[in-house]
Formats: sequence, structure tokens, C-alpha cells
Amino acid sequence: MITSKLPNVGTTIFTTMSQLATETGALNLSQGFPDFDGPQGLRDAVVRHINAGHNQYAPMIGLPALRQQVAAKVLRQYGASVNADTEVTITPGATEAIFCAVQAVVRAGDEVIVFDPCYDSYEPSVELAGGRCVHVQLDAKDFSIDWQKLTDALGPRTRMIILNSPHNPSGALISAADLDQLAKLIEGRDIYLISDEVYEHLVYDGGRHASVLANEALYSKAFVVSSFGKTYHVTGWKTGYVIAPPALSAELRKVHQYVNFCGVTPLQWALADYMAASPEHVEQLPGFYQAKRDLFCDLLAPSRFSFTRVAGTYFQLVDYSQIRPDLNDVDMALWMTREHGVATIPVSVFYQTPIPEQRLVRLCFAKREETLREAAKKLCVI
Ligand SMILES: Cc1ncc(COP(=O)(O)O)c(C=O)c1O
Repeated sequence: MITSKLPNVGTTIFTTMSQLATETGALNLSQGFPDFDGPQGLRDAVVRHINAGHNQYAPMIGLPALRQQVAAKVLRQYGASVNADTEVTITPGATEAIFCAVQAVVRAGDEVIVFDPCYDSYEPSVELAGGRCVHVQLDAKDFSIDWQKLTDALGPRTRMIILNSPHNPSGALISAADLDQLAKLIEGRDIYLISDEVYEHLVYDGGRHASVLANEALYSKAFVVSSFGKTYHVTGWKTGYVIAPPALSAELRKVHQYVNFCGVTPLQWALADYMAASPEHVEQLPGFYQAKRDLFCDLLAPSRFSFTRVAGTYFQLVDYSQIRPDLNDVDMALWMTREHGVATIPVSVFYQTPIPEQRLVRLCFAKREETLREAAKKLCVI
């Protein structure tokens, strides 16, 4: 019998809920992916590049044209000047970038602080590096950082902190002032950061994403990760990037070249073309998704779910305490899928130690208007 290196990992709730949605014919608002396609021009560009023979290995660190587009974008968005050759690496998805960053830094016995609720790939990446996650809970109501808890969690073995803003699953944002406070807290310590910013362009109500790229002190120790999949509505392309100072990028690349070597070539060509031709795409994203959030929330207003409109991401948390307070959130999600035809994700799965009284499920609103209308109709009669 093989002894598992990841004994606590089973089938994830995302797979379970998506499968159940398919089996039951429920609307799938569980896993985070759009039910519409990415831009036509982007899809056409992939076909063009495949037919132009761009089908062999890309450079290990990514296509120069795409790295340059990424550098130009972060200069426009955050005023951050990064070197496309020494600081930008294209990866097969943000997930691979996170995995490689962890392997590059974390050694056996090291501790990595993660904020619960958190994305599910962090902990297995840390465990495979021989490290241990220390889970610090975000505020149960507004999902802000509890600075006292974070200070208490820091110790001599702390080697890394993983941030995620805009935050999955809550939609909460870390502010520029939070980043300053964090910089002060870890000043002079041998602690690195992963800043998971895959939802960087999904920030609403005129808010601005506070990127670690714009915080000099933090960036000097950080791997900043993003995902073209989220930004261009093509999650299945699994293409992302990581920006880090040259010394950190060099260490990350040592891992990346043996995990995957490089990202998919024609996708990188297409993304480079599209970013050059349509820089307005990222400017228009907040409005595009805010309209979906607002439509969905307006439609849900008469329901018995209670919620506050999210500040970012394409997820809306809803509280069901007025509907089935007797059910924990996993049972609620199963019941909603089977009995009411809407698949969701229970928030407890993002916690090491779930909050027993919390009654929250996560709904993905990266969906066509008709899907959102149909889902809201079902949710309003629960
Ligand atoms: C917070 C967070 N980080 C990383 C990822 C992974 O991104 P990718 O699909 O580019 O690997 C996701 C995808 O859901 C996510 O929600």
C-alpha cells in the first residue's frame, strides 16, 4: 500500500459539485468559470498562430512578446516598472506559479501563513515542500486581516505569507494601507510573500486593486501571481504569470523548468497579440463584471438569502440562515443542488477549522444574463 504524501487531499468540493450539477441538471454556479467565451479576436488569434506553425516549445520563461505586454500592463495599471526578461515568467496557470514559488522558497520545517478561508492549492504545495501551513482566520464578517492574530502567528520558522486579493471566496480586498502595515510587520525578517492577484481586474464600485507590485518594500520579497484565464474568460487555457524580483525569479524558474518547462506556445502568441491590440479589455472588465454582479444581486434582493455586494472577484457570498439554519453549508449546498437546481460552493471547505455558526455559500456570477436570471428565479423560491 502506498503511503500518501498528501493524506488529507481527496476529491475537491469543486469536482464534487460540478459533477453533481451535471448529474442533476442543476445550474452550475459552483466552480469559478464563465459560461461564455473569451473575446473572438483572442480565439481567432490562437487558430492563426497554430496555422502559422507556432506549435513547438516556447522559451522556458515565456514568449518575449507576452512578457513585454505583461510588463507594459503593470506599468500602466500600478506604475510598477518591471523587467520583462528578469522579472516576468509565463506559467501554465497561476496554480503552477504558486506551486513553483512555494517550492523555490519553502524548506522542510518552514511555516507558511495562509489566511482562512483560502484557496485550496496553497496547503498541498506547502506540504509537498516539507513545510507546514499556519492558518490565520480572517474576520468572520468582513474578511479583513486580524493583525493581532497575524502577529501572534509569526515565529522564527515563518518563511512565507500567502496573500490573496481580491479574495476568493469572500470578494474582500486588501487595501494599500494593509500592505504598508504588512511591510512594517515583516521588515528585516527572512519572510517571502506570494501575492495571489488572479482577480486583479475584477474590482468594483470605482475601487482600485492594491497590488503588491506597487509596494516597493513588499515587492522586494514577493512573487506576484496572475491568471490570463480569469482576465480573458478562458480559464481552460491555464495560462498565467508570475512577477518577482530577479533573484526570486531565477529561483522560481529553476523549479518551473522541471515542473512544466514552459507554457503552451500558440496561447502565448495569441495573448500577446490580443493584449497589444486591445489594451482596453482590462479597463472594461470591472464594468463588465460589475453589471453582472448588480443584475444578480438585484434579482436576489427579494430572496431569503442575505448578502452584501462583493467588492471584487466574480463570486457572491450569500447567507442562508433565514432559510435552513439547521443545515451546515456542505449539506445546504447538496440540498440546493438536488432540490432546487442550483449548485454552489460551501465556504467551510476553504477553512482548516470551519466556523460552526457560519451559514454561507458561494455563488459564481461569471455567467450569461439568462443563466443569472434563471438561477435567481430558482434561488428566490427557496
Ligand atoms: C484565488 C485563486 N488563485 C489561483 C487560481 C488558479 O488560477 P489558474 O486557473 O490560472 O491556475 C484560482 C482559480 O480559481 C483562484 O481562485
